[in-house]
Amino acid sequence: MIGWKNHHKQFQELKKQFDENGYAVLPGFVTPEEVATLKGRIEHLIKEFEATEEFTIFSTKEQPTKTNKYFLDSGDKIRFFFEENAFTAEGELKQEKKLSINKIAHALHDEDPEFSKFSRKTEMEKVARELIGFQNPLLIQSMYIFKQPRIGGEVSPHQDSTFLYTEPLSCVAFWFAFEEATRDNGCLWVIPGSHKHGIKRRFVREGDGVTFKPPKGDDPEWADATQFVPVEVPAGTLVLMHGSLVHMSYENKSDQSRQAYTLHIVEGPPHATYPADNWLQRPSNPPRGF
Ligand code: FE2
Repeated sequence: MIGWKNHHKQFQELKKQFDENGYAVLPGFVTPEEVATLKGRIEHLIKEFEATEEFTIFSTKEQPTKTNKYFLDSGDKIRFFFEENAFTAEGELKQEKKLSINKIAHALHDEDPEFSKFSRKTEMEKVARELIGFQNPLLIQSMYIFKQPRIGGEVSPHQDSTFLYTEPLSCVAFWFAFEEATRDNGCLWVIPGSHKHGIKRRFVREGDGVTFKPPKGDDPEWADATQFVPVEVPAGTLVLMHGSLVHMSYENKSDQSRQAYTLHIVEGPPHATYPADNWLQRPSNPPRGF
């Protein structure tokens, strides 16, 4: 197991891997107690959510507009998003609600006390400042991803800086395995070294909606799928990913969920600027640091 505690030398080695490959793997970063506590919070949030009317917006005919607004306003809130395959043609859930949620996003790290505590623990700040080199780290976004058994969908190849763009580029994903991630249940796949060529596009607000600029074409963007390597990790592992690293995950056809928490950090002023047309905006509740 690679230690991450206080050891300058180990940080140097991990930093080298991060710089060369665009990602680094830190097993044992999340304690079993933290996993248990945070999973407990997730269960609690789902129970609270089940008691609200919010759910109806997903099964009405107005879905596109309302879902869009629900999504667009989610930057500083705790909101629930469903798997595409969760519903029948009639709009009924195929399996129970807690097994149908794709993710909870995008401000668990600010709006939930336990997630805030975890996201701001001393070791996190240490990794952000000393391993990555952030000078004014801002915790911009978080997601709890379920990758549900049998219906957890594929996440097509992308770069996270497409969604969390700064000038200059600064986004880094902190990806925490809350359950073992394997090829069977849809682990991360990455193209080592792909972070060295900038990003292909941005995901921006336009009018009342969002769009890719430049738009996505029909051709596969990262033609050679053989370049992807799997990142199979035990529960408790932190995977650091450069914002320009090309990564993806396949659908989960297994009976095991593959739950993960992700925290995205960007450089704040005066070192980087965050454009007003980025999809994620937090006008009344700006992102904070540690
Ligand atoms: Fe991603």
